Parts: sequence; C-alpha cells; structure tokens
Amino acid sequence: MTAQPPTQLPAHLAASTVPGGERVSGLPDHVLIRQFYLGCLSQAAYLVGDLNTGRAVAVDPRRDVDELLAAAAEDGLSIEYVMQTHFHADFLSGHLELAAATGATIGYGSAAVTEFESRLFADGDVIDLGGVTVEVWETPGHTPESISLIVRAEPEGAPVAALTGDTLFIGDVGRPDLLVAFDVPADELAAKQYSSVHRMMTLPDDTLVLPAHGAGSACGKSLSSETISTIGEQRVSNYAVQPMDEATFVAIVTDGQPTAPGYFGYDATLNRKLRPIRAHNDAPDALDLAAFDDEDVAVRSSGHVGADCRRAGAAVKPRSASPVAVPPAARRRETSPAKTTCPPSRPPPGPSSRR
Ligand SMILES: [Fe+2]
Repeated sequence: MTAQPPTQLPAHLAASTVPGGERVSGLPDHVLIRQFYLGCLSQAAYLVGDLNTGRAVAVDPRRDVDELLAAAAEDGLSIEYVMQTHFHADFLSGHLELAAATGATIGYGSAAVTEFESRLFADGDVIDLGGVTVEVWETPGHTPESISLIVRAEPEGAPVAALTGDTLFIGDVGRPDLLVAFDVPADELAAKQYSSVHRMMTLPDDTLVLPAHGAGSACGKSLSSETISTIGEQRVSNYAVQPMDEATFVAIVTDGQPTAPGYFGYDATLNRKLRPIRAHNDAPDALDLAAFDDEDVAVRSSGHVGADCRRAGAAVKPRSASPVAVPPAARRRETSPAKTTCPPSRPPPGPSSRR
C-alpha cells in the first residue's frame, strides 16, 4: 500500500489546535485509539492509528466529520480506510464525507451491498498499518453484515482492543430484531449473534472493549453508561455472555427490546445508498416545529430542537435526508461531551474505565 500524506485539515479548521475525541489509555505508546463519543446519540466513532507510521483507520464516523479530521491532522495521521461495523440504523453515517475528504477506502463486511464504491472484507482479512494491525472478524447477529475489528500492536501480537460495533456492548449485546420489517427473522439473527458474541469472548481478558453505542441507544436494551470496558469485565458482568445454550440466548435477547424509532429503517436504507455529500459547515434547513407530534412537547418546549438526537430523530417523520435542524453552535457543543447540553448519559470515568 502506498503511504499517503497526513490527512489535510479543512481550511475552516486550520486554526484549531484541539483534537477531538478522547485518547484511550492503557495501550502501547505507538497505538493511538481515539473514541469520539456523542452522548446525545449514544454513539462512538473511532480513530485507530499507528503513530510510528502515521497510518490510520476511521471507524463508524458520524456525518459531521470535522472533529475526526482535526484529530487525525493533529496526530499526524493519514486515514486510509473508513470501516463501517454495519449499516447503522440510528444515524446517517459519514463514510462518504470522510472518504471524499481523505481519499480513504470505505470498508464493510462481506455480506454488505452498497450503491457506492466499497471494499468488502472477509473474515480474517487484516489491515496492516505498518505495525498496528486491524483484523476483521465477521460477527453477524445485530445485522447480517456486522463486523468487529481486532486491534493488535504488532502483527501476530496479542489483541489489545476490539472495536465491537453492535455485536458486544458494555453490559449488553446488539439487538437482533431490527430487520424483521425487511423479512430477516429475529430468531435467525439471534442465533448468529450467539455464535458471534461467544467468539468475542475468546479474546484475552485484558482486551479493551470499544463498542459503537452506550446507554440510551435503542440498538439494545441494557447498555451501560460506561463507554470502555474489557473482555474480562464483560465476562463477569454482562448478562448476555453468561453460560447458556443458544435457545436461551435467543429467547433472552429477543425479549423486551425497546420500540425501534420509525427512522431506523429509513437511515439503514439511506446508509447503503449513494447520496449527496454534506459540505463542511452546511446546516440542514430549519424545521417547522409543527413537524413534531404532540407527545414530543418536551422537545418542542426545550427550545433546542435536536439537542437530544435520539428524541428529535424519533419525533420527526423520516421524509428528508437531514431530519434534524441544529444550529452550528449547538452542533459544536454536541461534539464535546464535557460541554454538551444533552442529558448526562456519560458519567465521569470510574475505576473500571481504561482510558
Ligand atoms: Fe446498530
């Protein structure tokens, strides 16, 4: 692979000196993982890089890619791949925007079908960043194309972290019932999830677990407010990985899931499509508040439509590609958990967190 220059910082961010995302601690010095957690969406994007070679992979980016680009530039990293752990249903992801900005290749698991150009990774395929490696594990269950990404500090080394997507959450696993409307039975995916989750649990206990979602996400029913854990911690505390047969697992994970917001199917479909790329600093058109249903008066009366992405997204009927209007200033707040106006779904790091 030909080395690329570090990701160029967009002109409007040239004055920025503060990289976004929190650097995950407890890793070898040359292994950089930043977690970009947006509390009001309960979603985590990641940057995984080798500081010795300056090569990096972005994972599950949101459509506002500026923060990720700024961090990569600050760290001197060139983003070569944009990996998607699956077709997200809860947000419109930024794979097209990030690929356009960096020239990176968009990657999915081999079961994915996309309208846009992408590279499909088979189980065991490895992205070699020149030292740090990222191995693709196909882990179907939440969706058929779901993958997890196993990070090693050097080729053939022990895993140091697993970006588990919606396969393994902290305290939960990804729900397998979101594709029922697309004629994919929940029981069928749940059985695959059983195998995938137990495969994840073969990783060493000290492997970091870096999931795609935390508490408040509708992609599961019992997600922790922690955003980083270890396989060892999950082995002890996660109800879904306790010893049980497949039938019991299927019954447990298909029971009691929250109602999926109406826009989930819309977003999951749009994330497969070739669509217009969002320009930097482009704000979507403002919405008429009449678009909100009566039961969403809390959203309306807050005066901050879109301050809680999950509620606003559920309130607005999916009729456009940009259903939530958020003033630019509010968007900047949202990308900084310490200053966010969102509900405090992310507590201070506890003793079990490894950052
Ligand atoms: Fe998901």
